[in-house]
Amino acid sequence: MSTALPSAASLPDADAREMIRIESVTKEFSLRHNHSLKELAFAALKGKKLSDSFMALNGVDLTVSSGETVGLIGLNGSGKSTLLKTISGVLFPDSGRVLVRGRVAGLIEVGAGFHPDLSGRENVYLNGAILGMSREQIDACFDDIVAFSEIEKFIDTDVKYYSSGMFLRLAFSVAIHTDPDVFLVDEILSVGDEPFQRKCIERIRQMQADGATMVIVSHELDMLQKLCSRIAVMQSGNLIFNGNPAEAIRVLRGDAQPGEHEDDADEHHEGQPDDLDTD
Ligand SMILES: Nc1ncnc2c1ncn2[C@@H]1O[C@H](COP(=O)(O)OP(=O)(O)O)[C@@H](O)[C@H]1O
Ligand SMILES: [Mg+2]
Repeated sequence: MSTALPSAASLPDADAREMIRIESVTKEFSLRHNHSLKELAFAALKGKKLSDSFMALNGVDLTVSSGETVGLIGLNGSGKSTLLKTISGVLFPDSGRVLVRGRVAGLIEVGAGFHPDLSGRENVYLNGAILGMSREQIDACFDDIVAFSEIEKFIDTDVKYYSSGMFLRLAFSVAIHTDPDVFLVDEILSVGDEPFQRKCIERIRQMQADGATMVIVSHELDMLQKLCSRIAVMQSGNLIFNGNPAEAIRVLRGDAQPGEHEDDADEHHEGQPDDLDTD
């Protein structure tokens, strides 16, 4: 579930405050359809196209400065996970570029970065190594990782028997122990039970206080509004708004047009996030 990031290009040190710079990024996917042999033969004879393509990201620009927490919202299929994957280096853009500074850890897909036939214990080592930790570093924080995850009893069970919540527990625990400069969280937090989600959010706040830079995707808009200094809204592969969290939520709900206010894309909000007390 956690992903390391050696692949996206690094930002030059001169722009010391920028941690993530996404410039005109596009990503096209093809829609595959299942066809019979007969259909394939006809299509070949008539020179007909059998797959359609569509733009999952359609020229997205976004920069995230050091210490900022940016929320990313949008309907299902709007391109949020695809954008996070270009930041984590799992996907390469077709055009445009993504620059990232520092060590990136991400909770992007349930089970990604875990091997089903290995135990929780072995996967902590595998995942830690993927995230750039040495064996000694993992040894040193292994007990803390397991303690945070609260799955001590199952740590020697193969992870193919884990629930998605258990995957999340272990992956989140490993990721936070790699001390990332940039932390990416996709919707998957919602597979955790309420006490664990609360614990994750507390830890996210602690990382914010320590200066980490974050991008968080979630449908829990109240939670995002409390955590984020800025929220970006995706719609059909386009970033249609980037600014004040409350305004972003109105844009998502269709109560405001992206162009109706001052806070449109490209504008940065340096202000503090809303009150961060736990509900
Ligand atoms: N590997 C892929 N191959 C083809 N289509 C994909 C792939 N990954 C995502 N998509 C498609 O791209 C669009 C955006 O997906 P995604 O970024 O996962 O949306 P979101 O996270 O906002 O729900 C969706 O239509 C999805 O089906
Ligand atoms: Mg998604």
